[in-house]
Amino acid sequence: MRCMLELAVLLAWVTVAGCGEQGASDDTRGDSSSTGVDESTGSDSSSEDGSSGAAWPSLEERPCPTESTLTWENFGGGYVLSYCTSCHHSALAADMRRLAPLAVNLETVELVRNQATRVWARAADQNSSMPPLGAPGPDDRALLGEWLACGAPTNADLGME
Ligand code: HEC
Repeated sequence: MRCMLELAVLLAWVTVAGCGEQGASDDTRGDSSSTGVDESTGSDSSSEDGSSGAAWPSLEERPCPTESTLTWENFGGGYVLSYCTSCHHSALAADMRRLAPLAVNLETVELVRNQATRVWARAADQNSSMPPLGAPGPDDRALLGEWLACGAPTNADLGME
């Protein structure tokens, strides 16, 4: 009963997220060298139109906006708690992980940093295969991409504590 309800909610999410991505994916296919960001001023402040939905070839090539203030405390920790650690947590018994690989745990900032490339490739920016159901929309995934591209900093790293 509760599972059915959860499934219905997740499917609704997927439907909504799927519609949102449709437009963004075609214009970014061909140009891997130029990602559509020509000016340094345009790259960071354009979360409304530019960076959200943008497709980067790799995490290495994904820019970190110089004024980014995303940290583990104000963003990353809540993100993995909301979307990832229900399956990817080292405290979960093997039969509670819903087949998530035993080696992929994401409950600390160090764990996320160590696997940043894999996390990005599955969950950030144009990548939405994780979580398997109910992936957040392009705006949220762009924020994850930004935080990872900036090195997944903590408050302390940015002198915010
Ligand atoms: C409902 C359970 C579940 C949730 C929630 C979930 N995952 Fe997964 N994850 C899996 C399963 C199952 C696999 C193995 C199958 C696969 O790779 O698709 C996996 C595999 C992975 C891998 C390994 C891919 C590789 O390189 O081999 C990464 C990285 C990953 N997930 C990241 C994430 C991130 C980041 C989130 C949150 C945004 C997340 N997952 C949320 C179940 C989950």
